[in-house]
Amino acid sequence: MSTLDATVNVNGRITTAAEATVSVLDHGFLFGDGVYETLRTYHRQPFLLDAHLRRLRASADRLALAVPLGDDVLAERLRATMDGVNPAGEVTLRLLVTRGVGDLTYDPAACPTPTIVIIARPHEAPPAAVFRDGVTTVVASVIRNHPRSLDPGIKSNNLLNNVLAMQEAIRQGAYEAILLNHRGELAECSQSNLFAVRDGTVLTPPLDAGLLEGVTRNFLFDVGSALAIPVREEVLRPADLARVDELFLTSTTREVIPITRVGDTPVGTGRPGEITARLLAGFRARAEQLTRPAAAPHA
Ligand code: PDD
Repeated sequence: MSTLDATVNVNGRITTAAEATVSVLDHGFLFGDGVYETLRTYHRQPFLLDAHLRRLRASADRLALAVPLGDDVLAERLRATMDGVNPAGEVTLRLLVTRGVGDLTYDPAACPTPTIVIIARPHEAPPAAVFRDGVTTVVASVIRNHPRSLDPGIKSNNLLNNVLAMQEAIRQGAYEAILLNHRGELAECSQSNLFAVRDGTVLTPPLDAGLLEGVTRNFLFDVGSALAIPVREEVLRPADLARVDELFLTSTTREVIPITRVGDTPVGTGRPGEITARLLAGFRARAEQLTRPAAAPHA
């Protein structure tokens, strides 16, 4: 099953991916002028839907892009689009809102109607070996966008910064690219957030480092607190990569994945760490618990 087998909703019309079309005059296509969210289901419930919709609206606000539908309508569209997709399993959903179709100008007034697209496809979890053995990353030479240039806190469709960083990782056979910010501090990865463990405490770069406020990142603070594992923000630098005991990444589709190498350098023992494993187990248990269908009442 590839993304081309997806089910797609364009402005309320549901078709196969092959039949779905968006105009070449859509400013999402022309300029990357739009925002998006990636969600996944557990028990076929879009996980942390409210947080994703909140972030979508916050991103859209930053572009002065009005999302013309309420949360209830967006939730209903997501449900209708994923309805026949992978009925016995889980679904990944990409929800995009673009500026819409208009003349070739940056003036938003040229586009009165945003385009709303949902792409629903079977959820493909990373292979079990990735969670068991960890992954290799590289520090990209491309730095994360300066927050005063294109704020990484905006989850926008303008993804070239991420694409260029990930191309470096792919060329070096790595699973993910770590990006530094304009000050040379660790920021995040091309499509995930970064965490380190030092002396039993979990550390992640502060929002001020210029990164996406990941929904999974936020959830991990709760998971840590339920497990009595301290999780806090701290400025991290490349030199810290050689000093930390564990390193891991988080995202909606990847949950919690151990990083065991950065380039040629092993992280800690070079094996996935114990705290990372506890957080992954805690994360999954809580995700299951929050989405488990209520037990049928006894007759
Ligand atoms: N990526 N940082 C970046 C740059 C991202 O693109 C993502 C998400 C994250 C993690 O955010 P969250 O926990 O809310 O998924 C961090 C998604 C999965 C994507 O691009 O499809």
